[in-house]
Amino acid sequence: MILVLDFGGQYNQLIARRVRENNVYCEVHTAVSMEKIRELNPEGIILTGGPQSVYKEDSLLPPMEIFNLGVPVLGICYGAQAMAHVLGGEVKPAQVSEYGKTEVEVVSEVKLFAGVNKKSVAWMSHTDRIFSAPEGFIKTALTKNCPIAAMENPAKNFYAVQFHPEVVHTVEGAKIFSNFVNICGCKRDWKMSSFVVDTIAKLKNKIGDGKVLCALSGGVDSSVAAALLSKAVGKNLTCVFVDHGLLRKNEAAEVVEVFSKFDLNFIKVDAGERFLGKLRGVVEPERKRKIIGEEFIRVFEEVSKKIGAVDYLVQGTIYPDVIESGLGKSAVIKSHHNVGGLPDFVDFKEIVEPLRLLFKDEVRQAGRELGLPENIVNRQPFPGPGLGIRIIGEITAEKIKIVQDADAIYREEISKAGVKNLAQYFAALTNMRSVGVMGDGRTYDYAIALRAVLTSDFMTAEAAQIPWEVLSVVANRIVNEVKGVNRVLYDCTSKPPATIEFE
Ligand code: XMP
Repeated sequence: MILVLDFGGQYNQLIARRVRENNVYCEVHTAVSMEKIRELNPEGIILTGGPQSVYKEDSLLPPMEIFNLGVPVLGICYGAQAMAHVLGGEVKPAQVSEYGKTEVEVVSEVKLFAGVNKKSVAWMSHTDRIFSAPEGFIKTALTKNCPIAAMENPAKNFYAVQFHPEVVHTVEGAKIFSNFVNICGCKRDWKMSSFVVDTIAKLKNKIGDGKVLCALSGGVDSSVAAALLSKAVGKNLTCVFVDHGLLRKNEAAEVVEVFSKFDLNFIKVDAGERFLGKLRGVVEPERKRKIIGEEFIRVFEEVSKKIGAVDYLVQGTIYPDVIESGLGKSAVIKSHHNVGGLPDFVDFKEIVEPLRLLFKDEVRQAGRELGLPENIVNRQPFPGPGLGIRIIGEITAEKIKIVQDADAIYREEISKAGVKNLAQYFAALTNMRSVGVMGDGRTYDYAIALRAVLTSDFMTAEAAQIPWEVLSVVANRIVNEVKGVNRVLYDCTSKPPATIEFE
């Protein structure tokens, strides 16, 4: 495996992804001890970028000992500067910061740049730079404003790049990762099938005869998590489906129908009133997320007390949930209900999240390996807080009904028209009311926003171009059939700068 030491950069999740694309297992850790690093026994270490400056007192630096483990180390951006700093080089603010696409010139034919074009475009984002390389290092690449855009110590297999090979804009990035994997001597035998087998074995080992509760929403992530656990602990697993009253139209009944066919201990809890009560009067998105996150846990705790002696709660948390909830020193974008939305005290011995390091498309692949049917594996994602984050402002029973009905029409028409490849699409209820005219009278009603995005990892997304004829049928039906709505808007924004959900 390759270990990624996380220093809080925006693109860190992509580093793990690039390594895994080479069929090499990779884990990301923040502020990890040397003891843990030794236990992980990595074949290579990558130090990520991050917003800090190595010369500031409180900045997080890699432990010196990693350079004595005898494994190759690759530093990226801040990671490159941290390597230079720790090994005796000099890092200072650059006279000219570089942001965005920059031409990089390779000046030395070295293993990290094997097969890489001498000149290519790379993505830069830095204000500090390496002014002098530590002893034993040679300069291997430069840019117009950065004389040490890459350096390496060939004898020790230490590599540093100021640019970001993990982002798609760095044309030769994939080759650089492939070269690093070769330098580390990794076998390239990590596949989803081996992830599934290894994870089941690890879960068996950890849980033994313990009892496990799995938070099942019927979505891809929790279904795959449940399938893994079911293979690991069999009947010691109970799946709990909480209907928080913020589900899509008919969804609760559909989930019950699908899962009652599996040989599982399955419990449905009706908690609509309870969630609505807690959310009354709340308008702030992060508050809503935290209330919903906490209430889920309280329901699971109650079920667990009824069953008795439950040690573990399983959640289908995936990597983007972790990243966007603010991992290590990264910014909090939104508190995903199962990560940043968790209360401080959770009455389980441990929360188990077997998919925590996977991206959505990898989770789907794992689901296929586990033999889950395509209609589950290919379900579009639905967030844990449900319609709660698709109703802007206060949540009321009336608003839930409006967004459920509008969303059902949208889904029906998309399916009728056979629009393919949409990663996620839904209706949201804006808090905006506007004047309209219906029949011969004035209306002052809500606007529904429609969203549809194309993406595979859900970290970035573009707005889908739904055919106009389909949109106009949907708009027409919504204003005619859903009481309280007189306007329908289509969201054309990509992520970033927007996000997929509205809150
Ligand atoms: P955003 O809105 O962050 O969404 O661009 C990215 C993906 O994550 C889903 N999402 C969530 N899923 N709990 C979840 O289980 C959450 O709290 C949550 N918030 C967003 C969203 O639907 C999209 O697929």
